[in-house]
Amino acid sequence: MTQAVLFDQFGLEHLQWTAFENPDLGDNDVRVAVKAVSLNYRDLLMVQGHYNPRLKMPLIPCSDGAGEVLAVGAAVTDLKPGDRVCSTMIPDWPGGTPGPHLLRTTLGGPVHGLLAQERVLPRQAWIKFPAHLDYAEAACLPVAGLTAWSALVDEGRLPEKPNAKVVLLGTGGVSMAALAIAKAMGATVAITSSSDEKLAKAAQLGADHLINYKTHPDWDKAVLSVFEHGADMVVEVGGEGTFDRSVRTCKVGGMIALIGVLDSQRKPINLTTCIMKKLSLQGILVGSRAAFADYNAFLEKHQLRPTISRCFEGFDQAPAAFALMARGGHFGKIVLTA
Ligand SMILES: NC(=O)c1ccc[n+]([C@@H]2O[C@H](COP(=O)([O-])OP(=O)(O)OC[C@H]3O[C@@H](n4cnc5c(N)ncnc54)[C@H](OP(=O)(O)O)[C@@H]3O)[C@@H](O)[C@H]2O)c1
Repeated sequence: MTQAVLFDQFGLEHLQWTAFENPDLGDNDVRVAVKAVSLNYRDLLMVQGHYNPRLKMPLIPCSDGAGEVLAVGAAVTDLKPGDRVCSTMIPDWPGGTPGPHLLRTTLGGPVHGLLAQERVLPRQAWIKFPAHLDYAEAACLPVAGLTAWSALVDEGRLPEKPNAKVVLLGTGGVSMAALAIAKAMGATVAITSSSDEKLAKAAQLGADHLINYKTHPDWDKAVLSVFEHGADMVVEVGGEGTFDRSVRTCKVGGMIALIGVLDSQRKPINLTTCIMKKLSLQGILVGSRAAFADYNAFLEKHQLRPTISRCFEGFDQAPAAFALMARGGHFGKIVLTA
């Protein structure tokens, strides 16, 4: 019997710390003591019922976790008790083009996630993480970190673009992971935020150009004042509310990595400019296991660490942690430790 934070009605108030029975350890399974979990905006939407109102409940939320291997099934030869692993959000995507049933196996909905003392999951749901990271840091990699990597490197080919100019929106988990990768690759970064205080922190982490999108709602003009011919790439987490300005900040032949929908304003989208600028619009869905392995190697080589805004002690602190995310009080990642 282990404990898990589950909900059986939507809403933060319905999260409850309760008994949970993991499946028996199958031949290809790995049992992990979960030591840390990080929150993603998707987890919040999932709990609130905004992600999938028809979601099957109850559900253990959270796609991101890291922990210590307790036991492995008879067919598992490359992990052993004591190994440190983190979860892979889309376990059945080894690499290449994903299969059609990809979204049916994602952890944290529809499949039970990581906010539990122990989880038994198939071998492919776990990956070792770099030795210089602790559990809290490793828990930040599987979704936000890997998504930023897929956007900038797998799809954006940043290493092939010397002196690249990158635009990041806001200072959440994906954007801060992208900042670390982009700076380690020598790019120049313009970042937006609703907070001057957060922008100052981003500057300490290497951001070159800082724009407050509240005091400068026409932040695209501010970007173009520093990136004269426009940006090579925008890591677009805002959605329809920010898309047109992202398009305006791009150079001819630039790319927009379509990742999130934080700004829910419904606005008509100006596709003509995308055509006239010959932009690439690339949807990003976290990333494959192969991409995760490359990301881990890069983190290790450059000794990079995720940016953690706040660490809550105890998984039963989940309601407070989610509430912090809901009010946008974070800079980088919010983590819960066991
Ligand atoms: N496609 C995928 O595979 C994938 C993977 C991960 C995440 N996502 C999505 O990507 C988005 C970001 O995820 P996250 O985990 O980084 O979220 P997060 O950590 O909650 O970050 C949210 C931050 O975004 C900024 N923001 C909010 N509205 C904005 C706006 N109108 N313009 C610019 N910035 C704005 C705010 O930054 P400031 O406080 O600095 O203003 C806010 O703190 C979410 O929609 C999430 O669902 C998608």
